[in-house]
Amino acid sequence: MRDSFGRRIDYLRLSVTGGCNLRCIYCRPAGEVSCPSPCRAPSPAEIVEAAAEVGITKVRITGGEPCIRGDLPELVGKIAATSGIEEVCLTTNGTLLAPMAGELRAMGLSRVNISIDSLIPERYRAITRGGSLDDALAGLAACKAAGFENTKVNCVLIGGVNDGEVDAFDSFAAEQGVEVRFIELMPLGVCADWPRERFVPAGTAKGHVIAPISRPFCSTCNRIRVTADGYLKPCLHSGEELSLRGLSGVELVEAVRAGILAKPKAHTLADAGSRSLRIMSEIGG
Ligand code: 5AD
Ligand code: SF4
Repeated sequence: MRDSFGRRIDYLRLSVTGGCNLRCIYCRPAGEVSCPSPCRAPSPAEIVEAAAEVGITKVRITGGEPCIRGDLPELVGKIAATSGIEEVCLTTNGTLLAPMAGELRAMGLSRVNISIDSLIPERYRAITRGGSLDDALAGLAACKAAGFENTKVNCVLIGGVNDGEVDAFDSFAAEQGVEVRFIELMPLGVCADWPRERFVPAGTAKGHVIAPISRPFCSTCNRIRVTADGYLKPCLHSGEELSLRGLSGVELVEAVRAGILAKPKAHTLADAGSRSLRIMSEIGG
């Protein structure tokens, strides 16, 4: 369906858990994070069914880290089997992906994006607070072995930390036959107050960039988001959320429709900053 500004909304980013096995410095606080209680009713599959009724055709499963859910393949199967859903994609840090890549593909997953912010093991470990680059690379290799095509690597550029690795990522992309996309760090959640130098415009990198601040794409925005605890976010950067918790049937469909109609015209990242009240691992990027 179209939103109030005529944009066709056909893409749902669905967070299936607020939990993550990593704690990236810009995404999660150093200490324990209390994950909001996940939404059991409606289930992710029920949310997708309702979304499909109002014209969603593409679903991206996000987290936190979706692969910490043992039932992820089953969940992918249900979503892929939903009438009207043409594409189911996954955004993951890749570190837990290797053992389940084949099963995910068999259950109907279309494509995978893997987040890797450094190709230097020690730096990767520092950014993720303990993660192993080898595990992430094993996840990427497993995607290839499982027959996934168009696997992409997402790299969030952090000024003074990994912005010197653009050429290394470009060579890596050529070697591995994958597309690397450089993503601008957005000042929200735990990095909202970081010094300005950390926020480098991704436009300085060659190739494909995702630059929500220096090159906003609000006018062609086609997406809505649902958090793991069952709230629909019409815009990533808006504080506005609609609760889907406990809804089913027509009520759930109407709530998704209302969420699409509540989409604002544009975000205020460049001037007022993000108005989202959550950390990124609760929303899913
Ligand atoms: N700005 C940009 N990207 C972010 N991600 C998490 N936090 C931020 C942020 N503040 C990214 C992760 C991953 C995706 C799920 O969201 O690196 O690629
Ligand atoms: Fe986990 Fe992704 Fe956040 Fe890193 S960016 S802590 S991998 S959810």
